[in-house]
This record gives sequence, structure tokens and C-alpha cells, in this order.
Amino acid sequence: MAETTRSAKLTIDGKEYDLPILTATAGPDVIDIRKLYADVGVFTYDPGFTSTASCDSTITFIDGEEGLLMHRGYPIDQLAEKSHFLEVCYLLLYGDLPSTTQLEDFEDRVTAHTMLHEQMHFLFRGFRRDSHPMAIMVGMVGALSAFYHDSLDINDPWQREVATIRMIAKMPTIAAMAYKYTVGQPFVYPRNDLDYASNFLRMCFAVPTADYEVNPILSRAMDRIFTLHADHEQNASTSTVRLASSSGANPFASIAAGIVCLWGPAHGGANQACLEMLKEIGTPDRIPEYIKRAKDKNDPFRLMGFGHRVYKNFDPRAKVMKQSADEVLELLGIEDNPTLQVAKELEKQALEDDYFVSKKLFPNVDFYSGIILEAMGFPTSMFTPIFAVSRTVGWISQWKEMIADPQLKIGRPRQLYKGAELRDYVDIENR
Ligand code: SDX
Repeated sequence: MAETTRSAKLTIDGKEYDLPILTATAGPDVIDIRKLYADVGVFTYDPGFTSTASCDSTITFIDGEEGLLMHRGYPIDQLAEKSHFLEVCYLLLYGDLPSTTQLEDFEDRVTAHTMLHEQMHFLFRGFRRDSHPMAIMVGMVGALSAFYHDSLDINDPWQREVATIRMIAKMPTIAAMAYKYTVGQPFVYPRNDLDYASNFLRMCFAVPTADYEVNPILSRAMDRIFTLHADHEQNASTSTVRLASSSGANPFASIAAGIVCLWGPAHGGANQACLEMLKEIGTPDRIPEYIKRAKDKNDPFRLMGFGHRVYKNFDPRAKVMKQSADEVLELLGIEDNPTLQVAKELEKQALEDDYFVSKKLFPNVDFYSGIILEAMGFPTSMFTPIFAVSRTVGWISQWKEMIADPQLKIGRPRQLYKGAELRDYVDIENR
């Protein structure tokens, strides 16, 4: 990041301090407080990190007011329309769009790593059949570090690269196997003659008793969903991966930590929660009741798929997802999908309501995605695993960037202590 001579003045107890300001390529500049505690003896306070930059990064930028999301400078709507997921993976990982040869080589390397160690198949047997696929994915991804010992050393660039390719290649296989295990069907091996999205659909929906032809409409929609979820700055799960790996933890274990965080309904779990909410609403006439509940401070209910820490205008991914939902359902001949009708009417009524407008709450990436995924045949329990498959490239790209940073330090936040003052132990007979 370009250093500048600008500074912020801080006055505490009559003493003035200069804090350097670092200039961003886009978005807010930052006040560099790295020496604040050493020089001034105070911490800053920002639970939830609403005003805190945890790192500098060159990968993704979001302008919440403009509804802009760009990966290495390329806007998401152009990537969703003109690119495809593995090309976006290359862009996120290596910093620019690949040449034809570079892309072919990258895709070949990913394809060569899509199978899981055969011994790992037995690990699935330890789970209950009614396990949530996210629970299985957490276990299986963490277990990768028990099998792939030759790509655990984060200080070896070659091992980091191998771990990167393995993660991107194996996540669809693990997610599909988790799904097959929960529906009691045999695992389907990946194929080298299928593209990434088609391979995933086939591993999820093919059965040994019949040939399986990938529907190109579904494959394109699947690839677009992967592209839209790939990376998103320092969101909760990405920050989890950065913090976990800052201790030197291996990449597979760090990604497993990211999966755990993504699972929460306030984060990636919202796509499952949103579709379940839309189905609970059921018909447009019940929408006012749910909007009323979402506005009620005494009711913990929130409109799932609505609101965002950064987007205070609209989530560009939601716009693309909404268009895709219309296209996919029409092409599949699923006219008048009741859930889509409820979603569109809910969005309309919420965006006409001052509560949502004043709080700048708009549909986010999770609002329409579930409608497409359900139309593809996925149960709601597979929505967040699909998010995790896509976000793996974001987690890994951010992980690579952090590990390669010569200033890497273990993440170790401090606190505002509000507990008991120092006191002596009291024997139990005297309490
Ligand atoms: C993702 O960070 C990322 O980039 C995440 C993500 C990514 O790609 O990684 O974009 C993916 O996680 C998208 C978000 C998915 N989550 C949901 O859809 C769950 C529902 N949304 C909310 O829980 C909430 O909007 C968050 C968690 C998304 C954002 O929470 P913030 O930024 O902490 O906002 P907040 O909770 O402080 O809300 C501000 C106000 C509050 O009211 P007041 O206290 O000011 O009176 O808005 C209200 C909130 O009560 N509010 C909502 C609401 N979201 C916020 N009220 C009703 N329904 C909602 N959905």
C-alpha cells in the first residue's frame, strides 16, 4: 500500500499524537494504529469490526454505497456474464485474467486433483445419515490434513500451491459425497471430461442405474452461482481463515474453520434460512405479518437474505441472481414458482417500507440463490455447502496473500476489560 505523509491528530489528556494515514487504491483510507498501544497506552474499541481494516489486500473490493463488487478490478456483473468459475478462480489466485494456455493448464491441474483419497470414503461411515452436510464437510475438510501430508508446510511455496489446487478441486467432490451420504445413495466419482459445474451436478444427481446427462442450463446456472459466491473481502468466514492460519495452522484445518463460520445463519447459512422463511410465509398475503415481525425489536425474527454489513444500496450479486432465477425457472418451464413470487413480492413490500429503506436493508446474495438451487433439485441443507464450495477459492486466495506477506504476525486482538479488580482468594469456609 502507498505510504503517505498525511496523518490524523489524536489528543489524550492534553497530549497530542500523530497517527499516519495510509492511502487506499479505492475506498476508505486507513489510520495506522499499529504503534498506538506502544506509544499511547490505549487500545481502539470496535466489536464486530465495523470500522476496522484487519489487513491490506489486493484481491476484492466492495463499494457498499455504489453496490460495486470487483475482483482484481473486474466488476462481478461482467465476470458473471462473460467469465466462468475456474477462470475467476485463476483471477483471484494469481491476480489477472489468464491466457488461453494458462487457463487450460490451471483447469487441467484442478481436474487432476478432483478425487479424494480412497481411504477417506470410510470416514463418511462414521456420520449419521441424517447429519447436516455442513457438519460432514467440516469433518472431511479438516481430515484432509490427515491424508495429504505433502502439502501442509505453509512455508514451502510449492506445498502452498498444491494445497491450493487440492482444495479447489476436492471441495465439490466432498460436498457431493456429503449429499449422497445423507440421501443413502452411492458416491459418484468425478469425471475428467466434464467442466467444474457439470462435474459437481453429476456427482450429486447421477445414479448407477441410469445414464446422466448434464442439463446445460443448470450447469451454466451452477457455474454462475459459484462465480457469484467466490470471494467477498474480509467477511466473517474469510477473517476466520486468516486468523486461524496466522498461527501457522495448515491450510486444510484453516479452511475447515472457515466452513464452521460460514455455516451461521447470519452469514452463509442465510441461504438455507431464507428459503425456509419464504416457504414458511407461503403466500403473498402473509408477507405483511412477517415484515411486521422483522421490524419488531422484541421479536428476534429477521428477514433472512436481507441486509448487509457493507452493502447499503444493493448487493450486485443479488441483482444477477434475481435475473438468473427468472431465466432458469423459465427455461425449466417452472412457471409461476410460488416461492419466487413470494420473494419478489416480499422484496417489493420491504423496499417500500421506511424501516428497511431508512436502515438501508436490501436483498443480499442469499435472497434469490435458494430459489435457483431448489429448482435444480438441491435440498435446503445443501445450499450452504454449495456456498462453501465456491468460497473456498476466496478463502484460499486470501490465505495465500496473507502467508506470503513478510509482515505476517499471529492475529491476537486485545479487549476492554470490565471485570473484577485484583482480589485475594477466599477459602470456602469464609465465603
Ligand atoms: C452474507 O460480510 C459479507 O460479505 C457476507 C457475505 C459474503 O459474501 O461473505 O455477503 C454473505 O453473509 C450475506 C448476509 C446473509 N445474512 C442474512 O441475510 C441474515 C439477515 N441479515 C442480518 O442478520 C444482518 O443484516 C447482517 C448480519 C447481514 C448484517 O448485520 P450488521 O451489519 O451487523 O447490521 P445490524 O445487525 O447492526 O443491523 C442494522 C439494523 C439493526 O437495527 P437497529 O439495531 O439499528 O435498530 O438493521 C436491522 C438490525 O436490527 N436489520 C434487520 C435485518 N438486518 C439488519 N432487520 C430486519 N431484518 C434484517 N434482515
